[in-house]
Amino acid sequence: MEKLKCLSFSIVVVCLLRFTAPCIGEDESVDTPMKTSELQALYSTIQDFVGKWWNGSDLYPDPCGWTPIQGVSCDLYDGFWYVTDLSIGPVHDNSLSCGENVEFSPHLFALSHLKSLSFFNCFLLPRRRPVSIPAQNWELLAGSLESLEFRSNPGLTGSVPAVFGELRNLQSLVLTENGLTGQLPESIGNLFELRRLNLAGNSFTGSIPGSLGGLNRLLILDTSGNSLSGTLPLTLGGLTALLKLDSRGNQLEGGIPDEIGNLKSLTLLDLSDNRLSSGVSASIQELSSLQELVLSNNPTGGDIMNLKWGNMRCLAALELSNMSLTGGIPDSLTELKSLRFLGLNDNKLTGFIPSKIADLPNVTAIYVHGNNLTGELKFSEGFYGRMGRRFGAWGNPNLCYRVGVGLEPTSYAPFGVKLCGSEVIKYEVKLGHDSVSRASSRFCVSGLVLLFMVLIFNFSLGWHHL
Ligand SMILES: *[C@@H]1O[C@H](CO)[C@@H](O)[C@H](O)[C@H]1NC(C)=O
Ligand SMILES: *[C@@H]1O[C@H](CO)[C@@H](O)[C@H](O)[C@H]1NC(C)=O
Ligand SMILES: *[C@@H]1O[C@H](CO)[C@@H](O)[C@H](O)[C@H]1NC(C)=O
Ligand SMILES: *[C@@H]1O[C@H](CO)[C@@H](O)[C@H](O)[C@H]1NC(C)=O
Repeated sequence: MEKLKCLSFSIVVVCLLRFTAPCIGEDESVDTPMKTSELQALYSTIQDFVGKWWNGSDLYPDPCGWTPIQGVSCDLYDGFWYVTDLSIGPVHDNSLSCGENVEFSPHLFALSHLKSLSFFNCFLLPRRRPVSIPAQNWELLAGSLESLEFRSNPGLTGSVPAVFGELRNLQSLVLTENGLTGQLPESIGNLFELRRLNLAGNSFTGSIPGSLGGLNRLLILDTSGNSLSGTLPLTLGGLTALLKLDSRGNQLEGGIPDEIGNLKSLTLLDLSDNRLSSGVSASIQELSSLQELVLSNNPTGGDIMNLKWGNMRCLAALELSNMSLTGGIPDSLTELKSLRFLGLNDNKLTGFIPSKIADLPNVTAIYVHGNNLTGELKFSEGFYGRMGRRFGAWGNPNLCYRVGVGLEPTSYAPFGVKLCGSEVIKYEVKLGHDSVSRASSRFCVSGLVLLFMVLIFNFSLGWHHL
């Protein structure tokens, strides 16, 4: 009711502003250069998603002009309004929100000028009312559609239709946090205009299609949080524009292909929580733009001594924990002057901790706990004081620390490390450290992601719709 009042008020205002033009009581069609077929397709589409009760002809006689519908944008083509953006889901108070028993509206495909289509929080009931993406008709939108987004729809099940491969103008395909399953169609590799492909948080199986390697304009590839298996395709080396590659949390196996070294623009590489083995590929050192490298929780093995770490000048977060790494901590890591987060914990590392590591100007967390590091820690009390438990060296039974003359051994000591020549200090519940470690890792990473997003959005690509 309140909404209605507001609306009629704004209609009155609009009428006052347009006192020369015909208004209430006049023939709307004179005023509204929108073809009846387009108007009907829009209303029917909305009714199918929102509910049959929705009848916009009363409230929105002119949905593209003076009384626009929230979530609908239009453009003029040859003197007529056409719908170009349709966004369904509770983004704003007065958004078009999906009804309870939604079907996928076939009327959608009559909106022939649609550039951007998005569904957020729309299909919600995976068991009672699963909805699949229609397998046909998408080709009808091929001439116009640039951005297609299904986000947070747990009731959206079934697979990605192969016909998506015909959406040749698509620049952004976002299918995150839905209930989608099955293999990814090879045909996605035909979407040569694609800048962003985000498939995170579904239950996709099978391997990453090799055809994706042809998408040489792709900036973001995110397949994280699925059940993808097999090896990383060698063709990934063809993604030469890529800024972000995230395949965290799948069941990928085999090695990191050498071809990855071609991705000279890459700023983020996250392959953590997979089954990657065969050591850390030396090709990683070719990634000279990398800011964030996350490979933790893989049975990778091998050592990191012979990589030219100094090449990765921009690296701010290096997370290599729980990878069964052997050998030592290379001195060359201390050439990473931008480093803020270093995670080497829970490996099988041996030898000394490079003393210069304390001189890294921006470092806020260094985790080397849970290894078999040896020797004496001789960092300054200022270092221990500044880092607190974000310097994690516990769980290295053969490691001890020395204090300067006259220093209180308890005030600024590395947590969980014994004083040289004394017994092991029993440290408290391990759980506590883990949460500290995770919290700071998240902090660092989110900072970077923010930086990264600012970067991306500064590209001012027209297709981005939040
Ligand atoms: C909306 O309702 C009006 C009358 O209340 C009717 O004439 C019109 O056909 C309806 N529109 C749709 C799209 O159902
Ligand atoms: C360590 O990595 C293995 C896979 O290599 C994984 O199964 C395990 O859960 C990881 N441990 C932690 C604490 O994440
Ligand atoms: C350290 O951080 C500051 C502030 O974020 C930044 O301006 C500076 O460039 C960083 N130094 C290095 C070596 O990355
Ligand atoms: C740790 O390294 C020492 C030699 O520095 C070795 O004697 C010991 O067996 C190693 N411990 C483990 C658990 O590998």
